Order: sequence, then structure tokens, then C-alpha cells
Amino acid sequence: MDTKLRIRRPDDWHLHLRDREMLAAVAPWSANLGRAIIMPNLVPPVVTGAEAAAYRDRILAALPENVTLRPLMTLYLTETTDPADVLAAHAQGIIAAVKLYPAGATTNSASGVRDFDRVRPVLDAMAEAGIPLCVHGEVTDPAVDIFDREAVFIDRVLDPIRRATPGLRVVMEHVTTADGVAYVQSGDNIGATITTHHLVINRNHILVGGIRPHYYCLPVAKRENHRLALVEAATSGDPRFFTGTDSAPHPDHAKESACGCAGCFTAPNWLQICAHVFEQAGALDRLEGFASLHGAAFYGLDPNPDHITLTRRDTPARWPERITAGDETVTVFDPGFPVHWHIEDDA
Ligand code: NCD
Ligand code: ZN
Repeated sequence: MDTKLRIRRPDDWHLHLRDREMLAAVAPWSANLGRAIIMPNLVPPVVTGAEAAAYRDRILAALPENVTLRPLMTLYLTETTDPADVLAAHAQGIIAAVKLYPAGATTNSASGVRDFDRVRPVLDAMAEAGIPLCVHGEVTDPAVDIFDREAVFIDRVLDPIRRATPGLRVVMEHVTTADGVAYVQSGDNIGATITTHHLVINRNHILVGGIRPHYYCLPVAKRENHRLALVEAATSGDPRFFTGTDSAPHPDHAKESACGCAGCFTAPNWLQICAHVFEQAGALDRLEGFASLHGAAFYGLDPNPDHITLTRRDTPARWPERITAGDETVTVFDPGFPVHWHIEDDA
């Protein structure tokens, strides 16, 4: 017998759609979302309200007609970001949030922030206007082990920022550690996105039996006890935790390389995999909160009005192993087990 689960249409609170051929190739895979927070780490980054509006128009032009996806744009915070531009872009409905990348922390983060005191006026203005700050929470200090960078970031950067700017609404993006989960659980005005791949893989998946570049992303997957903490947080029903796939496509040649870049492409299968994870945890009734309700509430938005149905069938769900983007290919995230949940659109 098929099992059916009807939920409000999901949103994705952390998504990379890129630009040009890559945008054209990946955007249709996210078209069935309600809303998605679009990351601004293009080359060059999306820094001003005018750039965000232009990028939003390129995204809309790359989508098929009559899709449900509404892109919610973000600005890439730099040390020279003008608070007035952020406020104006927000007031005009162009942006939903601002993204903080510590300089050098991840893909295309060279223009990020080095001296966090320099962005204090922007953060103060955002707190006043209720604009959320999305944070890539890793320190870049070369002396800090890559597996510890999230936990150290909380103590050295995130907590001081939140104390200095009370009322600032913060999303700890793609949280990967039990430390991050505990920090979010203990705070007000803070939420966290959790990716699908971090619910599924630990660091062994990347390193045991050979290096698997398609499991390499930032923050890097940690030990199994951290993955378990993420599953527990995601399936707990705590509204501070919500979906952010961090689907981050890169051409295969750039990942399968002597210096492979970070990012997992999960747009085609993240929801099916999430349904599997929640089923395994005995928490299918909480999937709707995680995928469709909590993020919207954090951003002060209503849930999407329409629904989708997930159906569990005996036959596994299928998706392409890789997709084509211009002359290049992009490998789709492989959870490593069969997934029996299929999506049907009720719209
Ligand atoms: C992201 C990318 O490729 O843009 N990569 C990743 O590993 N997650 C950047 C990011 O969100 O850190
Ligand atoms: Zn990301």
C-alpha cells in the first residue's frame, strides 16, 4: 500500500541558483518550491539593492512559466555596505535578508567581512528594521582545525555580534554540529537552516575508501554524533530549525579535481530524501513543520497556500545521476540508499 503525506508547499531558506548557463540548468529543479532564499555569492557578488533586483529578474527569466517558486533575494554583506541601501532594498521588497560570509570561509567569499566591527552600523540598522542576518558560521583562522571552525565561530564571532546588536534576527545557516544546535536552542531571535546532505552524511562518507568530492561541502560534514544531533533537531518540531538545502551546483570538472570545490547539488532530490530521514526517525508528522512552516514563520511570512503530496511507493524514486549545464555536467547528490518517497504536485 502506498503511504501518502500531504503537506503545505515547501520552501528552501538557503539556495544557490548561480547565473547564466548554470542558472538556466538548475533553476527548473527548484521551480516547485514556494519560496527560496537566494544566496548572493555570485562572481562578482550581489552587493547592492539594484544588483539584487537585476539578479531576481534573471532568475525569473530562467524559470519556466507558471511556476510556484518566488525567489527571495539577499545582499552580500561587505565592509563597505551602505546601511541606507540595505534599508531601502528591504523597504521596496527587493531583499528578504542579508548574508554574512567571513572573508575566505567558502566559495566566492573573498569580498566577505574581515573586521566584524566595520559592519556594526549595518547590523544595527537591520536589527531596528527587523531584517534577518543569514550567517555562514565558520572562522577562517588557519590555526583552527576545519572540523572545529563552526564551534569556534560561535564563541569568537556569532555570540559577540548578537550581544553587541540585541534584537538582530540571525539564521545560523547550514548548521553542522551539536554545538551549533545547542547554541540555537538556547537563544531568542535565532534560527538555523539544516541541509539535507548533513542529515545523511558524516565525514566518513567523504573520506573512507577514497575521497568522494561530491560529498565535500562547507561547512564540511562532521562526526556521526553531530549528524545525529542535526537529525534530532530537524525532527524535534522545534520551530527554530528549518530547511535550507544549500543546494550548491558546481561543474563536475571543478569538483573532481586536485583542488575540488565545495558544494552538494541537492535541488532535484532533497525533499524525497528528507521524507526518508523523517520516516526513519518516526517523525513524518513533523516534516511539514521543518520543510513548510518554521522557516516562513521565522521570516514573518504566511505558509504557502497550496500543498504537495509525498507518496511512499515500493519502487524507488528516480532522478538523473547528473544534469547538463551548457557544456558541463553537474552531479546530483547521491544519498547512498534507495529513497521511496515520490513528489506529486497538487497545484
Ligand atoms: C557554497 C557554494 O558553492 O556557493 N558551497 C558549499 O559548500 N556550501 C557556499 C556556501 O554556502 O558555503
Ligand atoms: Zn550555501
